[in-house]
Amino acid sequence: MTATEHASVDFEALQRLVGQVITDIGGAVTAPLALLGDRLGLFTELASGGPATPTALAKRTGLVERYVREWLLAMAASGYVTYEGGEPGAADPDSAGSGRYRLSPEQADAFTNPASPGYVIGAFQNLTAGTRMLDRLTEAFRTGEGFGWHEHHEDMFVGTERFFRPGYLAHLTGEWIPALTGVADRLAAGALVADVGCGLGASTVIMASAYPASTFVGVDYHRPSIDMACGRAAEAGVADRVSFRVAGAADLATSAEGRYQLITFFDCLHDMPDPLGALRAARAAVAEDGRVMLVEPMSWDRVSDALNPLGRLLAGASLFICLPSGLSAPPAAGLGNQAGPRRTQELAVEAGFSDARVATATDFNLVYELTP
Ligand SMILES: C[S@@+](CC[C@H](N)C(=O)[O-])C[C@H]1O[C@@H](n2cnc3c(N)ncnc32)[C@H](O)[C@@H]1O
Repeated sequence: MTATEHASVDFEALQRLVGQVITDIGGAVTAPLALLGDRLGLFTELASGGPATPTALAKRTGLVERYVREWLLAMAASGYVTYEGGEPGAADPDSAGSGRYRLSPEQADAFTNPASPGYVIGAFQNLTAGTRMLDRLTEAFRTGEGFGWHEHHEDMFVGTERFFRPGYLAHLTGEWIPALTGVADRLAAGALVADVGCGLGASTVIMASAYPASTFVGVDYHRPSIDMACGRAAEAGVADRVSFRVAGAADLATSAEGRYQLITFFDCLHDMPDPLGALRAARAAVAEDGRVMLVEPMSWDRVSDALNPLGRLLAGASLFICLPSGLSAPPAAGLGNQAGPRRTQELAVEAGFSDARVATATDFNLVYELTP
């Protein structure tokens, strides 16, 4: 560095930047440790069994006290676990070994309640799985190649279901479907629905449970996900009206019962190497008076609008997961999860839909209604 460049550094700005990095690196190491707490039942035991010292929690979980003690300290410093202080009368009450820890009601909800809209364990699970691909991603920057969804660690598949399901429970049948023209009434009366890129079938099962007169077909190219989806439908008691099959989105065909009244894509169109082919197949398979619903992550057409904490998370997830998936096979469209509403709507029109509108939105998702 030259003397001039050095002189131009604003040391207060540098200090702020380093301070931010300390916070960020702390978050980065916390994410896999929170996942570890989920895997080992530490959060659930604290939630169900109540406050504990490291020794008590280690005993209750059958784990080693020395590790449990360090984990509690890391989680308490992150605000994921609440430090209560020492047992009254203890010799050294504020030491890491003798203090008691608990989960506040909000911490218990976020880390142990899969039905809560604030349940975040899935985010730790799928993003930690994504970062396992750092070496592949480094190479991908040099070659331009991608890697498919199926190449990830299995935490990606289960973590994605756990991450997205709370949002589907909160919004799908109460807000998103009612925002589409005439669709809620059709499903209530009995309709045929295809859920493309269904993964473990969280959305399929939620829709099937809400619309008992309708029949659902979940389609995904990833066989292990489809196998798990079949299990989810059976557990929910909807397997008589829900079937799943292994197929690429571009191979979606009209079913034996005719065209679909509704075709859905939940958080998957941008992951597909051929999103245009997938939309064309949906256009061919949907009834002329039916609808296609695209649920996509929030994204912005302008870079300056994307420079916010959610945009940061999504662009990072896109690099580890969505963009390589979209580049993993011909025609390698590589949309990434930040394609933006304009590009998404243009694709739908290019695929033959007469209209593509944003029907509704949440903080995290855009919901598009495509009209044949
Ligand atoms: C982010 S996951 C979303 C899964 C599910 N829709 C959900 O919301 O939980 C993306 C899904 O798209 C699927 N997928 C990717 N490319 C596909 C393709 N060409 N055809 C069918 N499914 C595909 C993946 O297997 C994966 O299950």
